[in-house]
Amino acid sequence: MSARTVTSLAALGAAALLAAGCGGGSHRSVPGASASHGKQLIEYYGCGACHAISNVTPHGTVGPSLVGYSSNRQIAGTLPNTTDNLIHWIERPQQIAPHTTMPNLGIGPKGARDIAAYLYAH
Ligand code: HEC
Repeated sequence: MSARTVTSLAALGAAALLAAGCGGGSHRSVPGASASHGKQLIEYYGCGACHAISNVTPHGTVGPSLVGYSSNRQIAGTLPNTTDNLIHWIERPQQIAPHTTMPNLGIGPKGARDIAAYLYAH
């Protein structure tokens, strides 16, 4: 394989990654939600014990990092990462992934919405 072919293949790979949404740093806003209240709830429920979350300690490693979550494509590899799906996941993860080890923490829809707003903004 010539050096030139290798270079163009690498360029193609980079273009595919960009098209797939990786490398985009976009943040989303959630209408009617309070991201700052979401952060308080994240601390209250101890999400940081299992996840890395911006400006939240500790930075747990049991679950995946949630830093820059708005550019994730899927939620737990199952559903498209939409606001409604993220809220649903935070409220009842087992309804989406029955065997997940992420606990159901008994969070209601309003709280889950605020938490989603924080995750999407950071
Ligand atoms: C006991 C550890 C634990 C706690 C506490 C916890 N999670 Fe999780 N979480 C996990 C694990 C493990 C996964 C991966 C689940 C899977 O892929 O099945 C996960 C997955 C997630 C995902 C999807 C990640 C992805 O890759 O798409 C989000 C979002 C999430 N958690 C948010 C939260 C929030 C918000 C809280 C606090 C309200 C929280 N988690 C508390 C363990 C935890």
